[in-house]
Amino acid sequence: MELKWQQFADETGSSLREKLGSEPVLLLISGGVDSTVLGALLLKTLDPAQVHLMYMDTGLMRKGETGFVRNQLEKLGAKHLHIISCEDSFLGALKGVEDPEAKRKAIGDMFIQVQEAECAKLGLPDSCFLAQGTIYPDVIESGTGKEKAGLVKSHHNVGSPLVEEKRQRGLIIEPFAALYKDDVRALGRFLGLGDEVINRHPFPGPGLAVRVLGEVSKERCDILREADAIFIEELKKRKGKSGKALYDEIWQAFAVLLPLRSVGILEGTRNFGWVLALRAITSTNAMTAEVFPFETRDIIEISSLITSRIPEICRVTYDVSNKPPATIEWE
Ligand code: XMP
Repeated sequence: MELKWQQFADETGSSLREKLGSEPVLLLISGGVDSTVLGALLLKTLDPAQVHLMYMDTGLMRKGETGFVRNQLEKLGAKHLHIISCEDSFLGALKGVEDPEAKRKAIGDMFIQVQEAECAKLGLPDSCFLAQGTIYPDVIESGTGKEKAGLVKSHHNVGSPLVEEKRQRGLIIEPFAALYKDDVRALGRFLGLGDEVINRHPFPGPGLAVRVLGEVSKERCDILREADAIFIEELKKRKGKSGKALYDEIWQAFAVLLPLRSVGILEGTRNFGWVLALRAITSTNAMTAEVFPFETRDIIEISSLITSRIPEICRVTYDVSNKPPATIEWE
């Protein structure tokens, strides 16, 4: 196994060095496993001085994400780490937008606008290479792969205009396009990344915008961020049947804020609070997924913790839908 990843790193490294020469390469870091492992691979196989890592704090990130990302990338020896605060731009672009595909488009366009403006500030040339942590399931689910699975969702900006234009000019680098998530994890482990990154559940590029259903606002993102952090913290604390933490038995877990108010009781009076859905699945490659069979006690206790700490949420549901027919994210 070690040998396989050594070979992958060597071969990818030499083809990247040949393609890039001393040109700079830009990688957008989402905080997820794929982009972090790609960052590690680029830093290891190229001159770190030519690797520009850009992380956008879009306001759609998980709780504590910016600090986590900064910490990880500094440990990897990043020389050019650009942390961009652009919450207002993203939330502004999402104002009044409810349709899921329109949200993805607004976010994709904003990523490009911010990226172009920041690259100009940094003096990165128009011919700058762009690395993406796109993995195999993203390519086929986005409908751009050779084996088209039909357009499930416009994932990862795989087909965004800037990316397409760069692709035409041979400036896109996607070393993981033939890998599954577990391959990326194995490679990351080989590259020396810790469990806190490798075992992290996947997080979608458009961030909380696909988990705040309906219109996205700062207030609703803040509510979801808190609820999600409580859910994840509990999964890390509680043990599952195998003796491992529930978090490690589950492939992906997260909270979703529904665009729905429901009646509840707050301080003895009738109150219409938000409804939150919890999702936890097992999977091997995200192409299919099964509902995680929680012990009832765990899910009830987690629900109570959320509603007691977040007064804006009055009701919690657990999503018991497999993929297919449901997808993992709700949108
Ligand atoms: P679905 O919802 O299609 O998700 O069953 C499959 C896996 O992909 C993640 N996902 C995304 N990841 N950008 C991403 O980087 C996206 O737009 C996106 N949409 C879904 C999802 O979290 C799951 O792991």
